[in-house]
Amino acid sequence: MKTAALSSSSSVLRKIRLSPYLLTLLALLVLVAVLYGEEFFFIFGKPKIKRPDPPVSRTDHDKTERPPFAVGRTEEGCDVFSGRWVRDELNRPLYEESECPYIQPQLTCQEHGRPEKEYQHWRWQPHGCSLPRFNATLMLEMLRGKRMMFVGDSLNRGQYVSMVCLLHRLIPEHAKSMETFDSLTVFTAKEYNATIEFYWAPFLLESNSDNAVIHRITDRIVRKGSINKHGQHWKAADIIVFNTYLWWVTGQKIKILKGSFDDKEKEIIELTTEDAYRMAMKSMVRWVGKNMDPKNTRVFFTSMSPTHVKSIEWGGEDGGNCYNETTLIEDPTYWGSDSKKSLMKVIGEVFSQSKFPITFLNITQLSNYRKDAHTSIYKKQWNPLTKEQLANPASYADCTHWCLPGLQDTWNELLFAKLFYP
Ligand SMILES: *[C@@H]1O[C@H](CO)[C@@H](O)[C@H](O)[C@H]1NC(C)=O
Ligand SMILES: *[C@@H]1O[C@H](CO)[C@@H](O)[C@H](O)[C@H]1NC(C)=O
Ligand SMILES: *[C@@H]1O[C@H](CO)[C@@H](O)[C@H](O)[C@H]1NC(C)=O
Ligand SMILES: *[C@@H]1O[C@H](CO)[C@@H](O)[C@H](O)[C@H]1NC(C)=O
Repeated sequence: MKTAALSSSSSVLRKIRLSPYLLTLLALLVLVAVLYGEEFFFIFGKPKIKRPDPPVSRTDHDKTERPPFAVGRTEEGCDVFSGRWVRDELNRPLYEESECPYIQPQLTCQEHGRPEKEYQHWRWQPHGCSLPRFNATLMLEMLRGKRMMFVGDSLNRGQYVSMVCLLHRLIPEHAKSMETFDSLTVFTAKEYNATIEFYWAPFLLESNSDNAVIHRITDRIVRKGSINKHGQHWKAADIIVFNTYLWWVTGQKIKILKGSFDDKEKEIIELTTEDAYRMAMKSMVRWVGKNMDPKNTRVFFTSMSPTHVKSIEWGGEDGGNCYNETTLIEDPTYWGSDSKKSLMKVIGEVFSQSKFPITFLNITQLSNYRKDAHTSIYKKQWNPLTKEQLANPASYADCTHWCLPGLQDTWNELLFAKLFYP
């Protein structure tokens, strides 16, 4: 051992001794450095200044470099998704419904007669730290020359619109636009050369519900392994925010197509919601690993958006739902319907095997408390209401989607926190 080490180090010495050119070069460099000081570093690249290590225990992001887009970090060990709602009359909402022209009429609750605005005045307060203030200037600057994309279902569209509403005020009228091309909606901030986009893909995989307008299909079929069908349109994104959940929860097994939708004889198998969902999650993780660059891009996944369709789940009257609800659920252990739990487990399992660091926006629990925040009956109706419906408003209340401004602005405050202060 000892001899080997000695002989190898002496061979290094010998090599150096045998290389007079190298010695001359070194001497020259030292001379230049002494003569020109700082400028030497300018010519040859600045030395890495070693900052003293912070006196904290090492966690995941200590081991890796700063993720793309990060400008700071959240307090060590703070789970921003664990917290409580606090009243904030002063700073919430973050914008007014009437000043954001991009909110679709399915989400403009005030315009459609909601009699109060209580739901707009809540702020999420994590237990362990405070959320950074949403800074639209910072967000737009960081998006300069970039493409941010939301991919998923109508819940994700709501989060997308909320994001546009949070940013658009800083952009003059002539320098912004929103256009829709089939499955893709693009908000452009011209002076920033930035786009914020939404891509409709409720299952992420190809399905018979992919038409962006006509997709109310009860007999849903999803094609196995078909993520590239939509994925080809996401490749150039710098930031992607995925979601998918509600379309998988049908109370029945999910039909999975093995060949192509064009096959005359279709080979279809049926999977439980959990198995079908796992299949989709795996496809997504694989797609991200193949197509996204961890050094320059970020990928998020927004967890299940809860519904409030049965009052008995929170101790209300039988037959009731989110209609006429204006207060929050106060039981901190409240979870609601169970299907979310098994799918949450699937997400945890699949993501733990992802090499690409997908940032999980775990908004399910904090949204569970918000039975007051749904659009309920205060939205544009697709069809005229019948007498029977009008006599019983709960029968047509939408307890899935959320009023804007409202809950989904908080999802974006959390996205902001995870993007810039991971
Ligand atoms: C928001 O971000 C901009 C750009 O980074 C910065 O100049 C400004 O001070 C920030 N505003 C607040 C209130 O933190
Ligand atoms: C605008 O951004 C795109 C990427 O989204 C980039 O390819 C293009 O070069 C940029 N154009 C300008 C003028 O900066
Ligand atoms: C709505 O709730 C209030 C109290 O929270 C109650 O007084 C009222 O009767 C309810 N209205 C309907 C139509 O259920
Ligand atoms: C998300 O949060 C809930 C409770 O807030 C927790 O039970 C669940 O395990 C979390 N999910 C993941 C995948 O971390």
